[in-house]
Amino acid sequence: MSPFVFVLFGATGDLARHKLFPSLFSLFKKSQLGDTFCIVGFSRREIDDAAFREMVRDFLKVSDDDLEWQGFARNIYYQQGMFDEERGYLSLIDRLNTFDKEVGACITRVFYLATPPHNYEAILEHLHTTKLSEGCGQGSNKWTKIAIEKPFGKDLETAKALDMKLSQIFEEKQIFRVDHYLSKETVQNMIAFRFANGIFEPVWNNKFIDHVQVTFAEKKGVEKRGKFFDGVGMLRDVAQNHLLQLVAAVTMEQPLSFSKEDVRDARVKAIQAIECIEAENVKECVVSGQYEGYLREKDVASESDTETFVAMKFGVNTPRFQGVPFYVRAGKNMPTNVVEISIVFIQTCHILFKEFGCPEIGNVLTIRIQPDEGIRMRVIAKRPGSKLALDTVDMKFSYHEEFGGHGADAYEKVLMDIFSGDQMLFNRSDELQSSWEFITKILDGWSATGGTGQKPIVYTPNRWGPKEASDLIERDGRKWL
Ligand code: BG6
Repeated sequence: MSPFVFVLFGATGDLARHKLFPSLFSLFKKSQLGDTFCIVGFSRREIDDAAFREMVRDFLKVSDDDLEWQGFARNIYYQQGMFDEERGYLSLIDRLNTFDKEVGACITRVFYLATPPHNYEAILEHLHTTKLSEGCGQGSNKWTKIAIEKPFGKDLETAKALDMKLSQIFEEKQIFRVDHYLSKETVQNMIAFRFANGIFEPVWNNKFIDHVQVTFAEKKGVEKRGKFFDGVGMLRDVAQNHLLQLVAAVTMEQPLSFSKEDVRDARVKAIQAIECIEAENVKECVVSGQYEGYLREKDVASESDTETFVAMKFGVNTPRFQGVPFYVRAGKNMPTNVVEISIVFIQTCHILFKEFGCPEIGNVLTIRIQPDEGIRMRVIAKRPGSKLALDTVDMKFSYHEEFGGHGADAYEKVLMDIFSGDQMLFNRSDELQSSWEFITKILDGWSATGGTGQKPIVYTPNRWGPKEASDLIERDGRKWL
């Protein structure tokens, strides 16, 4: 790994605490960060290097005398600054120049934006005007990279504007639009599973698949993220990105090759094929909910209409999936933590078994993204006994049992790919535009006046959202699994 400096905007925030620093430290312990690197936290808080290191130590829950921590801490610095004031950026330049001098070369600079999204514009503007975006060999930007967290915009228009701004400052090869779900082992495995196993390809279509379900459930509520979440909501926070990517992993066609652009092309086509729900159909096809007690959460507006749950039904316009409904739901304060995709195959009760009765749902292939990462295939079997009776049983593959773990953490993969410059698992701009087109129509439907608009329905915590979410699928004679 060549020397690099990682400038983290939003260094005292939730993402830094829970994901980025733990991943950086883990990579450091595995000696994957190379010999020469610096991490500079950039934030509003008035603290110095020592206090910031203490904060990071607290994030990582390590003791002061932990030798690995001591080695890691030596590479951590802090730059105080307001995102919309030039002063902090100018001091940052001095600091980065010092690192370059110490190393005796222009070190690659990675700017990682993990702040609330409304700061992106100001940060990008200042990176540009101060020429930080050009790296130490100013006039040439080959030594800089920019990583930008989701949500990438608030709707189609703002996403386009943000993209325009990015493209005025950076070249596409420098831009890393992060969706960490793409970097999860289980999601990456979808391509291998679907295309390396010849037995699935012939049945992966509307002749055999009845419908597809995607569930993203978190037991936790918004916790300390009220301020961020209340301005975003579940649809923008996880549906626009993580959920649509899970759908794309099911529906995409085989990429021409494993090259970055071929894989991204296949993904873009899959997202483009998701059928938009027109504003007038939103009421029928989308259910939004808000858990009871949400309005009392810290930093949440007292009359907030922000949804903490969303369920929707839509189609995918490809020859393979024409007519196969997708039922997708995501919620906070759910009964359990689970993210999984289930492909429910058409149940045909073979004439041979009709008189003995067949299970209502037959073959289901479930890809468990987390926890207990794995895949299970529900099949029909004869229940032991003297009479013929059919039941369903699961054939299972567990990452943990087979590989002794669940693979690299998604954020470790995100970071390593940024450092090495591999953009395959990052969103391309056309991909984001298509996903925002889909989401913006729903947002328009929700905000419509004249009786068609929609407010979230209150649901009891630890339940699977409002009853209307069950109605959404049961109307079609199906059930959430
Ligand atoms: C983030 C969302 O992108 O993903 C959070 O902003 C959500 O609201 C998180 O909790 C879930 O990520 P993971 O990797 O824990 O499933």
